[in-house]
Amino acid sequence: MTDDTPSLAVTGATGVLGGLVARTLADLGIAQRLLVRTVAKAPALARAVVFPFSYADRAASERALAGVETLFMVSASESVDRVRQHCAFVDSARAAGVKHIVYTSFIGASPASTFTLARDHYATEAHIRATGIDHTFLRDSIYTDFMQAMVGDDGAIRGPAGDGRVAIVARRDIARTAASVLQNAAAHVNATYDLTGPEAVTMTDVAATLSRCTGRPVTFYDETIPEAYESRKKWNAPDWQTEAWVSTYAAIATGELSIVSGTVLAITGRPPMSLAQFLASEGMQSDGVTR
Ligand SMILES: NC(=O)c1ccc[n+]([C@@H]2O[C@H](COP(=O)([O-])OP(=O)(O)OC[C@H]3O[C@@H](n4cnc5c(N)ncnc54)[C@H](OP(=O)(O)O)[C@@H]3O)[C@@H](O)[C@H]2O)c1
Repeated sequence: MTDDTPSLAVTGATGVLGGLVARTLADLGIAQRLLVRTVAKAPALARAVVFPFSYADRAASERALAGVETLFMVSASESVDRVRQHCAFVDSARAAGVKHIVYTSFIGASPASTFTLARDHYATEAHIRATGIDHTFLRDSIYTDFMQAMVGDDGAIRGPAGDGRVAIVARRDIARTAASVLQNAAAHVNATYDLTGPEAVTMTDVAATLSRCTGRPVTFYDETIPEAYESRKKWNAPDWQTEAWVSTYAAIATGELSIVSGTVLAITGRPPMSLAQFLASEGMQSDGVTR
């Protein structure tokens, strides 16, 4: 490794969120390391150096992180041992001397979160805090990008969300906020930010907006919790996964996801997109690529 190996590292660049952040930084002419599980999948970006690693691989992570000052850590794909993988990677960061970790967490992360995976985010935050490494937690709401995927073949969104509200946020807004934070990490030391969209909407609102903007009639059916477990049996998913799916809706019902923050605007100077604006922006992209 040479002295001019970039001191800013980005994980998740082979995925959507990390890929958007990496591209934004590259477009600004900022040098970065891309830490990826599969080198062949790494995006070709100016001033980017690619390092193979995975969160659970301590040796590869420490090699990839040697000399890194600021690290963007995208939460790993959902799995039963995700917290263990996250903790291993944070331990590697500490061993490598990383100075600041910017971690993508989840809104309202707490040991008592209704959304089960938000508890995992809290555990990861707690482990990062315990290392004493400077950190910034970006607590993202549910992605606006996923609203269309929640619609079943019959045109219904089904889940126990009741009349609860959620301030869904587009990945593009999270990414540009993260890119701003990474450019000036010192200004965000030990801050925890809620990253939300511009308004808190019910799933009935989401269905109405999808219907209006896409021309496909969409309805929301408010399942009971037992109905939600029953209707998801067809996926044959492990229990933790089904609990995560059902508790996403249940968390909306409690109001835990209803907070609307001004953080995206405050940090980037531009407000976040609503669902309608997101859908319009997708429609305007003739190559069909989500950016
Ligand atoms: N707020 C929400 O609504 C919401 C919804 C779903 C997920 N999430 C979380 O947000 C994260 C980012 O979202 P996204 O849309 O960008 O996901 P994505 O497109 O699936 O990208 C995930 C990225 O993380 C990498 N990764 C996953 N597990 C890893 C591991 N164990 N070690 C190293 N790298 C790993 C993936 O690498 P590969 O290309 O090698 O797989 C990929 O680059 C997700 O990973 C998930 O934790 C949030």
